[in-house]
Amino acid sequence: MMSEITVDGKLTLKKGASSKILMKYMDPATEILLHRTRAACDAIMVGSNTIRIDNSFLTVRHVEGKSPLRVIPSSMADIPPDAHVLGPDAPTVVAVSACAPKKRVEAIRKRGVHVLVSGEERVHLPLLMEQLYDEFSIRTMMLEGGPTLNWHMLHFRLVDEIRLIHLPFIVGGADTPSLVGGMHIDDESEMIRLTLKNHYLCGTNLVTEYQVCYSP
Ligand SMILES: NC(=O)c1ccc[n+]([C@@H]2O[C@H](COP(=O)([O-])OP(=O)(O)OC[C@H]3O[C@@H](n4cnc5c(N)ncnc54)[C@H](OP(=O)(O)O)[C@@H]3O)[C@@H](O)[C@H]2O)c1
Repeated sequence: MMSEITVDGKLTLKKGASSKILMKYMDPATEILLHRTRAACDAIMVGSNTIRIDNSFLTVRHVEGKSPLRVIPSSMADIPPDAHVLGPDAPTVVAVSACAPKKRVEAIRKRGVHVLVSGEERVHLPLLMEQLYDEFSIRTMMLEGGPTLNWHMLHFRLVDEIRLIHLPFIVGGADTPSLVGGMHIDDESEMIRLTLKNHYLCGTNLVTEYQVCYSP
């Protein structure tokens, strides 16, 4: 998982705002790090709401290298037909459930995008990971948010490492998206523990890298 995060743990300026606004304030060296990380992975995944809000390209720019396979889980195939991620800049997989409306699925396929059915009513992320491994030879994947998808991936223990780009801002807002959304935990036995592996300055931005240590 890799995210740009404010000092108060937020991913955007406010609910519904694009993370591109905050990303403008990243040091150019950090932007290069982000794109280098993308180029080093077989796939990159973001949630469908991030696509709806940010209209991200998820391609490798600023450095030499091949763009990874773009993976977007959307249980009801609810991706705007003109979304950049459905364009020809890189290959894309949209993962849907068996309940996704056929018309939407066909519209996505018409854009030349692979559609995987990865669950009955909802995309089942462990199944999606298996399909990506078996059918697309994906061995390394970068998860770039948002908080809802981050929570589900952690819940299924599918995140090995977390890399954070710390932005020296505070934005506030109780409902401003933070690194991990989803449900709260009930007691400390459910905390997901991390081990700090590395920390360094990239340009002017602090970068921290953690190993995720799930309890047995
Ligand atoms: N700063 C950063 O690094 C960064 C990075 C990324 C995003 N963001 C920000 O995060 C915000 C969006 O975050 P978000 O939490 O609202 O949405 P999100 O995590 O991007 O997307 C969540 C959506 O993914 C779909 N999905 C399909 N299968 C799923 C599954 N098994 N588990 C979880 N989700 C599944 C669901 O929509 P369907 O109903 O379509 O299935 C769900 O609502 C935006 O403001 C964006 O700018 C910031």
